[in-house]
Amino acid sequence: MSAACLVSLRFADGVEQRVDVAAGHGVLEAALAAGAPVLNQCRSGSCGSCMARLVGGDARMRPGVASSLLPSEQAQGQRLLCLTEAVSDCAFEFAYDSRAGAGGPAKASAFIDTIERIAPDAVRLKLELAEGDWIDFRPGQFVELTVPGTDARRRYSMASSPAALPVIELLVRLLPGGVMSDYLRDRARVDDVIALTGPYGGFFLRDKVKAPHIMIAGGTGLAPMMSMLDAIRARPGARPNVLLSFGCATPEGLFNLDELDLRSHWMPGLATRISVDSGAAGAAWRIGNPVAAITADDARDPASVAYLCGPPGMVRAAREHLEGLGLDPANIHAEQFVASE
Ligand code: FES
Repeated sequence: MSAACLVSLRFADGVEQRVDVAAGHGVLEAALAAGAPVLNQCRSGSCGSCMARLVGGDARMRPGVASSLLPSEQAQGQRLLCLTEAVSDCAFEFAYDSRAGAGGPAKASAFIDTIERIAPDAVRLKLELAEGDWIDFRPGQFVELTVPGTDARRRYSMASSPAALPVIELLVRLLPGGVMSDYLRDRARVDDVIALTGPYGGFFLRDKVKAPHIMIAGGTGLAPMMSMLDAIRARPGARPNVLLSFGCATPEGLFNLDELDLRSHWMPGLATRISVDSGAAGAAWRIGNPVAAITADDARDPASVAYLCGPPGMVRAAREHLEGLGLDPANIHAEQFVASE
């Protein structure tokens, strides 16, 4: 009979919980059964919510199962606990404190306030939570929406900060033939009711960090950065300097430039760099990608923290670039957008 492995789960606030994981059983499954506050959502390796760093012992992710974890993240010890089995007694560290996952996700209904086409392939969707419903979240996290009239569910990061609740703003990329995209293009009306659950995700603004922040966003990956910027602006006392590098494929695809401009006026410590892959150069943007727009000078403070959100290729390139510039991998937080439509 093979013995269970003892797995230590260590949270950023010093809370530690130990759970027994039977041979062949998943670490996340055992952790949740024991009541450990581990963030999770899809339980299939795609959302990245359950990421933790292996800091002792041996644990392996199930071979042959596709996951959103980058090879460089795995090489640094990161694991997705929903796909991980303990091979020996082992320990994991979480980049968030034990309170982050303590409440668990809530269910809510929301009404559509506004639907605004902000680029040929992007929509700003404003929802208002129904009276009596509430979803607390940290800037950077996401919710899961059920597309009205279907069973399909889609995840979107909040572009608004928790201070705007009960209003939640989302930026949705329109995809040809996508279930949510077709609904928003063809059928959605103000006051439609949408079911949502959340919050989810370990990608959120860390509290009390005074070091410079570098944010790199591709397309609707800008959403969680907007939420974080508004939360930083609302903080009392000294705020960190923030450099936001945002990019889209073409000038026509850009959006939220006025909103970013406003925030630059409100936040003297905010600098923005806008890039497009191709098209005509403009006064407000450069030709190139948002990763290359970050220079060695931008990353000269080795304590800088970075937030990356966009397609997997951009996130991978941004992580490599920032690590090459000397940022501590532990200070680089990332969320990949994987199209599900
Ligand atoms: S819960 Fe593990 S990747 Fe989504």
